[in-house]
Amino acid sequence: TDKYAVIGNPIAHSKSPLIHAAFAEQTNQDISYERILAPLDGFEVTVRDLISKGYKGANVTVPFKFEAFDMVLPSNRALDAGAVNTLRFLGAEIRGDNTDGLGLVRDIKQNFGINIANKRLLLLGAGGAAEGVLHPLLEESPTLLVIANRTLEKASSMQKKVEKKNESRSYFLNAKAFEDLADQQFDIIINATSTGLTDTALPIPNTIFAKGCLAYDMMYGRETPFMKQARESGAQVADGLGMLVEQAAEAFYLWRGVRPETQSVIKKIRNLA
Ligand code: ATR
Repeated sequence: TDKYAVIGNPIAHSKSPLIHAAFAEQTNQDISYERILAPLDGFEVTVRDLISKGYKGANVTVPFKFEAFDMVLPSNRALDAGAVNTLRFLGAEIRGDNTDGLGLVRDIKQNFGINIANKRLLLLGAGGAAEGVLHPLLEESPTLLVIANRTLEKASSMQKKVEKKNESRSYFLNAKAFEDLADQQFDIIINATSTGLTDTALPIPNTIFAKGCLAYDMMYGRETPFMKQARESGAQVADGLGMLVEQAAEAFYLWRGVRPETQSVIKKIRNLA
């Protein structure tokens, strides 16, 4: 049995063990996968301990994704995100990857059947969660991607970082404050702020949801104020459970070389909630 784990703080409510157990059963992989609570000042020690115990890899969740990045040999995806959610332990070497953005893109494209290419995208938030998904979204070639954030400078600095890297890209990237969104409509709106955690509504106008808009909240577990506003404005609403399962599937693939089927697992986890 090859051992894996998810490391976070808090960690008790993580659904990752259920998801990986479902993948393992489906693909006949002999693995174990457990939750590990690392002390806030003890992430690195926790990782070293897992390596010494022969674990093959781990997922990393809040608040350790940036610390993880500093410990690993990063993949290109991890470099783009500046954060790591998947570790592979290869002898003395720790490889770090980030599957969050791909998870979001796969959920939108495969599970919702919505193409991102040629769509107008709005990304709400400019923290770690937003930064983690920005590059994979841009790679889908939307016609427009606006990053809106309470603190405009953070959105602007995300924009500048991308433009520095990819000057020749043809997408149209823009940073705005929430108040400046009034005259625009978007086809896909992604909430990457942490406001769902505190049940806080965002100061966004009801008019930004274009006809047929997909409103995606990266949170899962309950309807957030953003999801409620989107639903009442006529948008199709999604929570982040599909993204969670899709990012896990990519981590599973990195570890095991097998791609699990995800739709049945999303259904299963949703029914357990
Ligand atoms: P995470 O890892 O979840 O991204 P983070 O890096 O602290 O956490 O980022 C939180 C995001 O939620 C930020 O975009 C933050 O906006 P600011 O950059 O202006 O702080 C956003 N956010 C948190 N609380 C908010 C609120 N009450 N209203 C609007 N945006 C909020």
